[in-house]
Amino acid sequence: MTLQEVREKAKGRLGYCVSCPVCDGRACKNTIPGPGAKGTGEVSTKNYEAWQRIDLEMDSLVGGGEIDTTFELFGKKFAIPVFAGPIGNIRGNYSKMYKEETYSQILVNGCKDAGICAWTGDGIEDGFFELPLNAVKSCGGMGIPTIKPWDIEKIKKKLALAKDAGVFAVAMDVDAIGHPAFKNGDGYVSPLSPDSLAEIIKSTDLPFIVKGIMNVKMAKKAIDAGAKGIVVSNHGGRVLDETPATAEVLREIAEFAKGKCIIFVDGGIRTGRDVFKALALGADAVLIARPFVQVVFGDAEDGIMTYVDSLKEELKDTMYMCGARKLSDISYDMIRVGGAVC
Ligand SMILES: Cc1cc2nc3c(=O)[nH]c(=O)nc-3n(C[C@H](O)[C@H](O)[C@H](O)COP(=O)(O)O)c2cc1C
Repeated sequence: MTLQEVREKAKGRLGYCVSCPVCDGRACKNTIPGPGAKGTGEVSTKNYEAWQRIDLEMDSLVGGGEIDTTFELFGKKFAIPVFAGPIGNIRGNYSKMYKEETYSQILVNGCKDAGICAWTGDGIEDGFFELPLNAVKSCGGMGIPTIKPWDIEKIKKKLALAKDAGVFAVAMDVDAIGHPAFKNGDGYVSPLSPDSLAEIIKSTDLPFIVKGIMNVKMAKKAIDAGAKGIVVSNHGGRVLDETPATAEVLREIAEFAKGKCIIFVDGGIRTGRDVFKALALGADAVLIARPFVQVVFGDAEDGIMTYVDSLKEELKDTMYMCGARKLSDISYDMIRVGGAVC
């Protein structure tokens, strides 16, 4: 199946998600529960459009050489600098076609087979964290569980489960405090102080990634607390309306954080060209979340393979045409924003 056929096949299987040819947040808008964004629902579209405003600068006068898209993270090697972003509670947010454990198993195995790795989510019921984690465990720990900012004891229990599953890193979406299901749901999660974050990070020997960083102020707090990675993310618009797009804040955050920790970014990244643009703005790697749900519902593990192959080919082609032979060659002068070199 082509990627287009995979997306077609997912139609009618995904609840609020109508499996658009391009996942740009328009059709699902403010559906929560569902895959949409909070309030006006505009932020996920804003994320997508910000990448489209960035153009690519060709340079076909750099000589030859093999294109190498491989990326290393905490001692593991991946085919491309792309990870499947965490999506919790598939049955509540999309549809009941799959059991949570079946969906997770397909996602985690499919990503591993395609040479990448899935981040898994968390939620109000213990199963929303534990079922995906079981899939990661049975896949030799090839996954990054993402824990919500619960009270410290609950976080420590989840960190112990993650350790037992053999994972190679762990993340926390500290911005989940703004998610309607958690914010209004009897205070399930609450803002962490920098000291609490440092205590949590110190309590594990796993590399710890803080997800939900939208400015230098937050990046500094996460790094000072001991984070080995940050994710520039507005949670796909699901935690606060009218935030900037992630592409708009990435460069200034990367200028501060480069070399201090691994920089990930997510939000509206859909193609290998978008991945290239993110790296040119200073990211080390990206997360793509909603489109992976589409391809799993369309064609299970094969759908993941089709999507990852397409991302890889687009990234390779862009590197080839812009004069980059390896990821570290990708630089700011290979993109153009709004018609002027930015
Ligand atoms: C239905 C749904 C559930 C999500 N659940 C989680 C979660 O459990 N943990 C988390 O860190 N992010 C979660 N996210 C946010 C995504 O990981 C990601 O940050 C966001 O969707 C932006 O990426 P995208 O535009 O590629 O989807 C969720 C997003 C959606 C749409």
